[in-house]
Amino acid sequence: MKRLSLIAFLALGCTLGIEQRQDRACPPQGTSLTYQNFGHLFLDRNCQGCHGRAGDSRNGAPTGVGFATRQDAQAWADRIYMRSAANNTSMPPGPLDPAAEDREKLAEWLACGAP
Ligand code: HEC
Repeated sequence: MKRLSLIAFLALGCTLGIEQRQDRACPPQGTSLTYQNFGHLFLDRNCQGCHGRAGDSRNGAPTGVGFATRQDAQAWADRIYMRSAANNTSMPPGPLDPAAEDREKLAEWLACGAP
């Protein structure tokens, strides 16, 4: 069922034109955003409360989908972008939404390869 809804979500994403990471160019001058000064703060604050927990405390976040390190963030960069960057707001699912400005920073950081 979970897998089915993921496939449905992906199909919907394509038809609705959800912005993808490859749609966004890294600025020509590069980015000053790094994992240290932005990425891990954003992910810890907004994502790891579910994705970084064990078992039942994950609130349904799929096992194996976690963002504890820069390597994790890079490995999941496309999916993080589609769920949380720029105007993509399906993650986090809760009422505590990150600021639009932070979603823009996330887009830039990911577009530049999540350095
Ligand atoms: C309140 C708990 C919660 C928080 C906080 C949360 N997630 Fe999730 N996440 C879930 C649940 C539940 C699912 C499975 C259902 C789904 O995919 O919508 C999921 C699934 C995912 C997936 C796997 C499905 C896919 O799209 O490939 C990704 C990636 C993801 N979340 C990214 C994030 C990011 C990035 C953040 C922070 C900006 C975040 N999540 C914050 C609960 C959470």
